[in-house]
Amino acid sequence: MSNHHDDDVITNLSQHDDFNTVLSKSLSNPLRRDLIKGGLGLSALAAFPMLQGCGSDSAAAAASTTPAGTTPTRLAFAAVPKNINDMVTLPPGYTFSVLHATGDRISASVPVYSNTGAEADDWSLRVGDHHDGMDIFFIDNAGRYTETDTGRAVLAVNHESSADAHFFHPKGQTSGGVTGQKFSQFGGWDQKARPELEVLKEINHHGVSLVEVNKVNGGWVYSTNSTFNRRVTGQTVMNITGPAAHLNDLRSFMVTAFDTTGATSRGTLNNCGHGKTPWGTYLACEENWAAYWTMPFGSNAVDAKTIASRTRYGVPTAPLTSNTAQTGSQGWSSVSTTDNRFTRFNISAVGATAAADFRNEPNTFGYNVEIDPLRPNDRPAKRVAMGRFAHEAAVAGLPKAGQPLAFYMGCDSRREYIYKFVTTATWSPADVGTGLAAGNKYLNEGRLYAAKFNPDGTGQWLLLDINVPAIRNFAGYTFANQADVLVNTRIAADAVGATPMDRPEWGAVNPMNGEIYFCLTNGNAANRSINQVDAANPRATNANGHIIRFKELDDRSDALVFQWDLFVLGASDRASSAFNVSGLTPNNSFSSPDGLWFSKATGICWIQTDDGAITGEVANQLLAAIPGRVGDGGARTITSTSGTTTKDQQTFIGQALGEARLLRFLTGPKGCEITGITESPDGKAIFVNVQHPGEDTPAIGTNANFTPQSLWPANAGYGPAGRPRSATIVITKQDGGVIGS
Ligand code: FEO
Ligand code: CA
Ligand code: CA
Ligand code: CA
Repeated sequence: MSNHHDDDVITNLSQHDDFNTVLSKSLSNPLRRDLIKGGLGLSALAAFPMLQGCGSDSAAAAASTTPAGTTPTRLAFAAVPKNINDMVTLPPGYTFSVLHATGDRISASVPVYSNTGAEADDWSLRVGDHHDGMDIFFIDNAGRYTETDTGRAVLAVNHESSADAHFFHPKGQTSGGVTGQKFSQFGGWDQKARPELEVLKEINHHGVSLVEVNKVNGGWVYSTNSTFNRRVTGQTVMNITGPAAHLNDLRSFMVTAFDTTGATSRGTLNNCGHGKTPWGTYLACEENWAAYWTMPFGSNAVDAKTIASRTRYGVPTAPLTSNTAQTGSQGWSSVSTTDNRFTRFNISAVGATAAADFRNEPNTFGYNVEIDPLRPNDRPAKRVAMGRFAHEAAVAGLPKAGQPLAFYMGCDSRREYIYKFVTTATWSPADVGTGLAAGNKYLNEGRLYAAKFNPDGTGQWLLLDINVPAIRNFAGYTFANQADVLVNTRIAADAVGATPMDRPEWGAVNPMNGEIYFCLTNGNAANRSINQVDAANPRATNANGHIIRFKELDDRSDALVFQWDLFVLGASDRASSAFNVSGLTPNNSFSSPDGLWFSKATGICWIQTDDGAITGEVANQLLAAIPGRVGDGGARTITSTSGTTTKDQQTFIGQALGEARLLRFLTGPKGCEITGITESPDGKAIFVNVQHPGEDTPAIGTNANFTPQSLWPANAGYGPAGRPRSATIVITKQDGGVIGS
């Protein structure tokens, strides 16, 4: 605990100081004084409007502390026109192949996928469903992790949910003896028993697929017989990890009949965005995990504190009110009343104590799960120190030797927050390749913060710690200890006054300058009425979302203040200029930005969409953007209108992108979301995920056949015809060049 950011303790506890107070305290930090004396801090500080007059001269202001890098200057492809075709469409000169799709086997010991729902195995040796966040981990000649493109790698792919699980049984899911019924996502089950094999297949659709991929003739294929091939599912045993000083308290929240010590738990669910650590491991983030539980009719209630916690997370708090009432869960607990692979989804107080039932099972979800893709025998670790919420990607700031690491994280629900985790340990590049041992070093001890965006274009990181008065004395919930703060992160962030955002989706870090970008996918009238707009979320309703970005003070991972602006705002090109704030055109209009990622090869900022607002005119898509930098635009007033009421909101928007800096690169098949992207280091292949094509397949009646909304990817020549499938595609340029520029 000797590293410098302990100096910030006092400052951090002053949660309700105004920004200038925070900043001056920060400036009184000895390290900061040294930085400024050494001339290292002035130029960055000059970027902060409130600091002008602090003595920086123009020469110092002109010097940059930003690392040099190559920023793309133009996008060298023709935009994909707006379309809603049932296919993947790319610019001229580009092609794609399908790497793997839902149901593909990862071992030759199970049959080739039928795409009819006929599989009799439990799916634990097949690629999961709903491909989402993904990253690539290269393998050297000795089987170890390397950043070098060796042409051989493990590709880790998140599988978000089984919203389309009806496609994986011959006639759809079975509920209470009724087959062939299509339910909307978590749309309801009665309490009659579901078949065991159906439920096992559904649990195992979830989690992460890790498969070896190999470069062949410039393209990539996956292997069905690699020793690296592995599934992490909704049943895989995990270690519960956290700060040493609070581990016993932490485990008391995790006690279940499966592990009465709370040291381990089972499974990861709803893995959406992801992270790649600087030491070369994978973070699978648990997003909408709150939707899998039920409390059957007649079961025992839970205590008031548990109810308060569950209420904030959207987990059921009371038994169903009748035998026929529907539960929002997937009905997994209905399989058996004695087999705890299934009873664990019943979170009522069935037993005498928490050690005799699964009332605490929801406490074991909502984390970043660290997996070492190159050590298939290592048990995954839930990193509780990084907080518990609807985790949506965990993106590492640029690592700097000798400084703490930062991970930026969103919580994907409307009016939720953006968070930062700052490691206690300082970065040592010697830790690259040391797997979960490095994870134990960096991800168990640190400080967790929530973001507050101020109306003047600055922002603050608010510490989430039991010693913060606003948390310790919070009237809305009584925190027992720091473990309680980590398990009930959302409530702690409420207590300190973090800024509610328009649904934080993925974050990404610009490798050229370390600036952090976040998608705010969209809002609605209920969460962002005309009276609820603020500078960082300036549009009422905001059906099309926007991307915010920020720059840490002095580019430091442990900065307590930052400067922000809006990179771009989504809209139909047909929208009014008052709403189409970024002036989007038919070649770059988009809505609901979700996946977000920077190419290290080209510096392009890739934007992926998960939209329902303008999908009548353009399918979900992938766009390429040239980033610029925080503060390259200026102040602007956005006017929202609701009925006869108008509201002006000042905000800060980056320099207009235009078609020179923002173009549509890909459109997906019907009913899909485009999410998940990575690349080969030479930038000549990008991997992109197409999630849930055919999501809007109409409900069918008993024993009917499906009429899928989409026939992709079979209609693109991949796999047996039948039902639509999520998939990873590999995009290359026909002339073998670098993608996008
Ligand atoms: Fe799983 Fe936030 O999208
Ligand atoms: Ca998403
Ligand atoms: Ca989304
Ligand atoms: Ca999704």
